[in-house]
Amino acid sequence: MLILYLVTILFDCLHAVYFDDYDHHPKARGAPSTDDIEFEPVMTLTKDKEKLLTMKNIDCDNFAEYARNCTNDAASVYNSVKKSPPMPGQVYDWCKAIRHLTNCAIDWNSDCKDVTDSHFNEESIRGHMHVVNNICNDEAFLSRYDELPGCIEGSAEAWEKCYAFFKAAVDEQKNTTHEWTHFETHFFMCCARAKFRRCTADALFDIPKVCPYEQAVTLQQFSAIVSEGDVFQNCDINVMYDKCPGGDPRPTGKSLSKLMNQQSHSTSLSSESRVGVILLIFYFVCGLIK
Ligand SMILES: *[C@@H]1O[C@H](CO)[C@@H](O)[C@H](O)[C@H]1NC(C)=O
Ligand SMILES: *[C@@H]1O[C@H](CO)[C@@H](O)[C@H](O)[C@H]1NC(C)=O
Repeated sequence: MLILYLVTILFDCLHAVYFDDYDHHPKARGAPSTDDIEFEPVMTLTKDKEKLLTMKNIDCDNFAEYARNCTNDAASVYNSVKKSPPMPGQVYDWCKAIRHLTNCAIDWNSDCKDVTDSHFNEESIRGHMHVVNNICNDEAFLSRYDELPGCIEGSAEAWEKCYAFFKAAVDEQKNTTHEWTHFETHFFMCCARAKFRRCTADALFDIPKVCPYEQAVTLQQFSAIVSEGDVFQNCDINVMYDKCPGGDPRPTGKSLSKLMNQQSHSTSLSSESRVGVILLIFYFVCGLIK
């Protein structure tokens, strides 16, 4: 039964990848104004009274300093030079820091837009919000994440290597003179994202003693969400992954079948994990953006 699901999903997914699915609305590309509604929940969700008072006094002449202040404030909440996933006990602070950065940027963009051209990139803001919504506001995910300390610790070094490579590639692209949605920038960023996912998956599913299968699935989901936050673009359609620098970053049939085999060996998976596995395959193959 599960296999049937997987085949169906894989087919849908491949369909989306290989046959342009015009009903599928690219999420983060195109005119920003169409998605404006998305800003509201996070703003109202996290803007407490204190925040409302301070936001009245933004010095809109000083973008660089404002940005530095935001970063420093966030770092005082969650300060880690390491980029590896936060330990379960630190997720709350990690989330708080991301929320702070998000609101900081939203405040500037809404309060200073008439005064200055300097602004935070909206795609970045949406990326942060994506992470907040899919990790920080997702109780079910957080409760599975709680079980991961050993896996996070044991894979931290490998994960961080994957991420450092990914971040460098993405920052280099974001630093170009092009819009981030320019087709070339988009292409390289999607390649980097797919490569990162494969990199973490290869690491996580290779250490079953440290990261039992279910935990690897959860942490891989974390990787996928975080990478979507950094490259908040629709990479599912029209990306020629076979032309990516360094070769096609999508998982090979072999690694996919390894995943599925492990699934069938492991009879004790809860139904929640099964959903996780299905999602994982989804993430794996076509980098689903919800
Ligand atoms: C940055 O923070 C300092 C110290 O809190 C504050 O005095 C300054 O006004 C802030 N700068 C901006 C541009 O918000
Ligand atoms: C971005 O570009 C500037 C100017 O071209 C350069 O000085 C800087 O090092 C670049 N940063 C990254 C992360 O590539």
